[in-house]
Amino acid sequence: MLSRYFSLRTKLILSFSMVIIVGVFLSTIVGVSLIGNTIVKQAQDKVRLDLNSAREVYQEESNNIKNTIRLTAIRLFMKDAILKSDRERLKAVLQKIRVDESLDILTLTDKTGRVIVRAHNPVIYGDQLNDEIVDWVLSKRQVVASTQIISREDLEKQGNDIASQSRIELIPTPRAIPRTEAEETSGMMIKAAAPVFGYNDELIGVLYGGNLLNRNYQIVDKIKDIVYKGEKYKEHDIGTATIFQGDLRISTNVMRDDGTRAIGTRVSEDVYNQVIEKGLPWIGRAFVVNAWYITAYEPIMNLKEEIIGMLYVGMLEAPYLDLRNQVVFTFLGIAFLSVILLSVIAYYVSVSISKPIRELALASDRIAKGDLSQRVRIESHDEIGQLANSFNQMTVALQKATENYLSCTRTLEKKVEEKTDELEKTQDYLIQSEKLASLGKLAAGIAHEINNPLTSILINSHLISEMLENDVAFGENLKLIIDETNRCSKIVKGLLEFSRQSPPEKEFANINEVIKKTLLLFESQVLANNVRAEKKLNENLPAILIDVNKIEQVLTNLILNALDAMPGGGILVISSQMSVDNQFVEVKIRDTGSGIPKEYISKIFDPFFTTKGIKGTGLGLSVSYGIVQQHDGTINVQSEVGKGTTIVISLPVEEKKDVLFKKEEDRDDK
Ligand SMILES: Nc1ncnc2c1ncn2[C@@H]1O[C@H](COP(=O)(O)OP(=O)(O)OP(=O)(O)O)[C@@H](O)[C@H]1O
Ligand SMILES: [Mg+2]
Repeated sequence: MLSRYFSLRTKLILSFSMVIIVGVFLSTIVGVSLIGNTIVKQAQDKVRLDLNSAREVYQEESNNIKNTIRLTAIRLFMKDAILKSDRERLKAVLQKIRVDESLDILTLTDKTGRVIVRAHNPVIYGDQLNDEIVDWVLSKRQVVASTQIISREDLEKQGNDIASQSRIELIPTPRAIPRTEAEETSGMMIKAAAPVFGYNDELIGVLYGGNLLNRNYQIVDKIKDIVYKGEKYKEHDIGTATIFQGDLRISTNVMRDDGTRAIGTRVSEDVYNQVIEKGLPWIGRAFVVNAWYITAYEPIMNLKEEIIGMLYVGMLEAPYLDLRNQVVFTFLGIAFLSVILLSVIAYYVSVSISKPIRELALASDRIAKGDLSQRVRIESHDEIGQLANSFNQMTVALQKATENYLSCTRTLEKKVEEKTDELEKTQDYLIQSEKLASLGKLAAGIAHEINNPLTSILINSHLISEMLENDVAFGENLKLIIDETNRCSKIVKGLLEFSRQSPPEKEFANINEVIKKTLLLFESQVLANNVRAEKKLNENLPAILIDVNKIEQVLTNLILNALDAMPGGGILVISSQMSVDNQFVEVKIRDTGSGIPKEYISKIFDPFFTTKGIKGTGLGLSVSYGIVQQHDGTINVQSEVGKGTTIVISLPVEEKKDVLFKKEEDRDDK
């Protein structure tokens, strides 16, 4: 749920880190326990082998004694002296052999087991032995060697030094089985016995000898030297060996804290139960005296195969633990470095995945805000690269569509503007037509009412003028009346023309002819005004349906206006041509006169608009406008003040050419 609030990058980094940490954690645990187990197992394997070596050393000692006894027993002097009961000789030789062969005891009995000579303690002899080894030889007549527990009485018979060497004070030991006695007075020996035969192979005695193991460090030190080569770890011997009498250490090189050998200490209860009680070897960790050891114990048996002691080898656990710790720490170090390295890689991978997506998101955002020029630049060829590519294509398409839309809008606006202009023009045109129509009706009424009184004023004024021929004062006044009345009648005439509602009498005519005829009327006036008149007529124009008189009137008005505009002379050009769309015949009257100021252009077609004072009526253009309108044509003005004016009349073309020529011919005939 919380993941909703994290950025993609954070999510990627978190998940990568989880995978890395869990992976490294698990592999570390597995690795460490594997390594730890392997090291411990190796140590245990080694100590098992060491125990074998220790047994060899122990066995060798036993064999040495056995050989010594066997070889001594078959020496000739033995038979000889026994048969001759030469005790003194036996004593002397056996004492020497005991010393030479480093035996603690060397004793000879007769064939019943009665002691003849104790080489170590010759004083005591003649006693009957109760010794399992001697009994065994007496019955089996063979050489034998074995470890044996020797009672205090027997030890004392061998000598006080032997008895006191055996005596070991018990030291309280944690984890050992409690014992009530304070010291051990019996001893443990490796003993060998051999039969002595007479000349006829009859058994004449038993020779036995042996070495006391209590406080005898020869074997354990030899084991240490052979197996562990005196290796030390922090001033402690790595390897140790011990011989136990029962659970008691009687010969050892395990040291106590005070540097003395740990004689008198005892084995822990666990080991005791397994080795002494059950007779099984023990391989494993054990706390020995004052430190943890990797140990191996096995039972030592007597001739009757009763367990009487143990042989032990052990290695300090500390060096192995140190090795294991070292390996574990190295492993942890590597794991830690891996986590860091993998995290860095995960970070860069996450960034490289999330960065382009972020770029896409930002670009989309900007596009949403209207910036369509956005493009993302992602070079990779993977899915994100494809996405970026599609994104860019989409943006380009969007931009094009938007541009199209905008240009459509612009076109539409332009069209609306054009149509509005057209509408406005049409509206103007309608207003103008309306204005003219209503004005025409008014003018017709007024003209009709005024024309008759004006005629009678003129007639009577002329009569009075004739009567007062010589009266100068009245004559001038009368002339003014006549002039003004003429002017009035001119206005009335114009009004009548303007208002004449009579439908045009149309016929097919050649417009060029109409132009030529009208211009001819003005020939003298053109010359007088110092104007050059030019015709540019297209001779291939079709005949058009017009009221010739009315069109003549239009042309007259326009030519008069042009001449009025050029009081100092100029050029008058009249041209005819087809319109671009071939639907109209166009007539242009161009002058190089004063031109029309812009503000007047909209007014010049209004009736009575004039800039010519009393000389003009302001009806010329409005009359012309009405006529052209009756022909379904248009009349347009282009003018520039100081340069001149061009008036264009467009008249529609209708197709009835054959009729046209006939009528023209008729007219010519008349
Ligand atoms: N060719 C032209 N050059 C300059 N101004 C012109 C031209 N044609 C018309 N005008 C202007 O238009 C006005 C109106 O012309 P319109 O012909 O209707 O009346 P008018 O010429 O003044 O009087 P009338 O035609 O009755 O003699 C003129 O007074 C003049 O100012
Ligand atoms: Mg005029």
